[in-house]
Amino acid sequence: MCGIVAYIGQREAYPIILKGLKRLEYRGYDSAGVALLNGSLRVYKKKGKVAALEESLVGKAVHAHAGIGHTRWATHGEPSDRNAHPHLSASGKLAMIHNGIIENYAQLKSDLQKKGYEFKSDTDTEVLLNFIEDIHINNGGNLEEAIRIALRRVVGAYVIVVLDQDHPDTLIAARKGSPLVIGVGKDEHFLASDASPIIEYTKEVVYVNDYELAILKPDELVLKNLGNDKLTPFIQKLDLELAAIEKGGYDSFMLKEIFEQPHTIYDCLRGRLDATAGTITMSGVQSCMQYLKEANRILIIACGTSWHAGLVAEYIIEELCRIPVEVEYASEFRYRNPIINKGDIIIAVSQSGETADTLVAIEKAKEQGAIIFGILNVVGSSIARASHAGAYTHAGPEIGVASTKAFTAQLVVLTMVALKLSNERGTIDQKRYLHLLNELQQIPDKVATVLQQNEHISALAEKYKDARDFLYLGRGYNFPIALEGALKLKEISYIHAEGYPAAEMKHGPIALVDEKLPVVFVATRDSYHEKIVSNIQEIKARKGKVVAVISEGDDVIEGMADDVIKVPEADEIVAPLLSVIPLQLLSYHIGMAKDLDVDKPRNLAKSVTVE
Ligand code: M6R
Repeated sequence: MCGIVAYIGQREAYPIILKGLKRLEYRGYDSAGVALLNGSLRVYKKKGKVAALEESLVGKAVHAHAGIGHTRWATHGEPSDRNAHPHLSASGKLAMIHNGIIENYAQLKSDLQKKGYEFKSDTDTEVLLNFIEDIHINNGGNLEEAIRIALRRVVGAYVIVVLDQDHPDTLIAARKGSPLVIGVGKDEHFLASDASPIIEYTKEVVYVNDYELAILKPDELVLKNLGNDKLTPFIQKLDLELAAIEKGGYDSFMLKEIFEQPHTIYDCLRGRLDATAGTITMSGVQSCMQYLKEANRILIIACGTSWHAGLVAEYIIEELCRIPVEVEYASEFRYRNPIINKGDIIIAVSQSGETADTLVAIEKAKEQGAIIFGILNVVGSSIARASHAGAYTHAGPEIGVASTKAFTAQLVVLTMVALKLSNERGTIDQKRYLHLLNELQQIPDKVATVLQQNEHISALAEKYKDARDFLYLGRGYNFPIALEGALKLKEISYIHAEGYPAAEMKHGPIALVDEKLPVVFVATRDSYHEKIVSNIQEIKARKGKVVAVISEGDDVIEGMADDVIKVPEADEIVAPLLSVIPLQLLSYHIGMAKDLDVDKPRNLAKSVTVE
């Protein structure tokens, strides 16, 4: 969480930093700030979104060729002007931005206080900065060395960038556990949490690794480890277009990303699935096919929406491949003492590839000898690099905080992995295999059909937007979709929603049902159809309002529900790819109807790089 941007070169730094912060705002938007160096350091910061900072800077002196900027997701200290980054050191000569958490900050702070340091903020960042300054003062003024010494004593995760008033031609950055990309231009360098603030200026980037330090001057990039050994920077070419990170005429990234799904799913299938030839080509899967084929157990590790994708995959893999699957919350897994046996395969699912809990969980599993297969959207991300093999989802940058297109792309990849593996293991008969390949290939067109119901779903949103709670119910492959629908509604509209297996509601949640409670049934035609029809009747008998996502032509449920949203008929294995779309749209429209910022819901951030 938190977005960082920095620039050093010949151009004006402020406009570059400001634009970059807007692009990184999905990472946190509790406050924003910049430090600009033009003779002396000027720090401007403001509680709230980047726009508030921008407004407060109209007419201010922002001329500088070096600067750092930050958009914050608060950890230590409430969102406020004084807790906003950048922070200044006690001498006022160093400015620093930080993404991450310094876990031993309390001890460091009390040591510094004993030496007379006073703190203006409640942040761990200001503590680290003064710790660096303290070493710097005592080591004869070598800032680079002071940073190295300080970071060796720090427990936690960080990306930091330091600007030194006495060395206006140098930026020093370091990373452990949070992402950092350097953009390499002609006589200029950029730093950012991801490549989006950089691509407009250069496509040449270096991904900084953990425990590395980058010393940047306009015309020089030096990369070192914390032991002061020089490293050779690996310059890569970015495969990302500017249009992919802009709204392209939509009112929000969320709506754009929902509507992109026919294309993103197509892109995910392209070059991999050939229904006519009956093949799935995935080099990452092939490279560890032997392990996968012989796996005793598959553990899927993820968080949030990615965890829901894993849950759908559990049903699919167990059904098709006959391998036991467990789906784990990364945050729980990492702190347990998990049992990992020879022959266990870990599948890590993550859009950002930076989720701290998922990253640490797989590192822990790796230490115990597990093979890690990553299903990731962001190329070159930390989890991608920590995995032994994997498959990218190719959904393109997802900027709306609510995950939509990344989720469907994850499902597509997981389904292809399951199909390929079941075919190799001989646990699927050829007819069903070819049928499912065909079904998958038709999904982009069917998703486009579902999207045509946007107006209808918008009207439903208007009808139900004032409900205090929602219940989402589904069975089998659609149970995780009920969870996902509830999560989407919570995060976008701030309405309390619960997802449940439809049959489980009798064991408690049914007590919530009255004439005011909308119950969303995810009830496309599948092997559980008759059972879910009974569950709908149970809700109707208690006067609940039923909104059902059903397959076209399902007159039975249409006759019972208060409202329906129809999706094209599809095999139950691929049906979640269709049934989730109306739920994404419903939460989007309810959020809009309540005049909320659907791209940046309160308290959230796109990549959760703190535990
Ligand atoms: O980047 P990841 O897929 O690892 O992120 C996991 C969750 O933080 C993420 O899915 C989160 O739940 C979304 N806000 C859901 O819309």
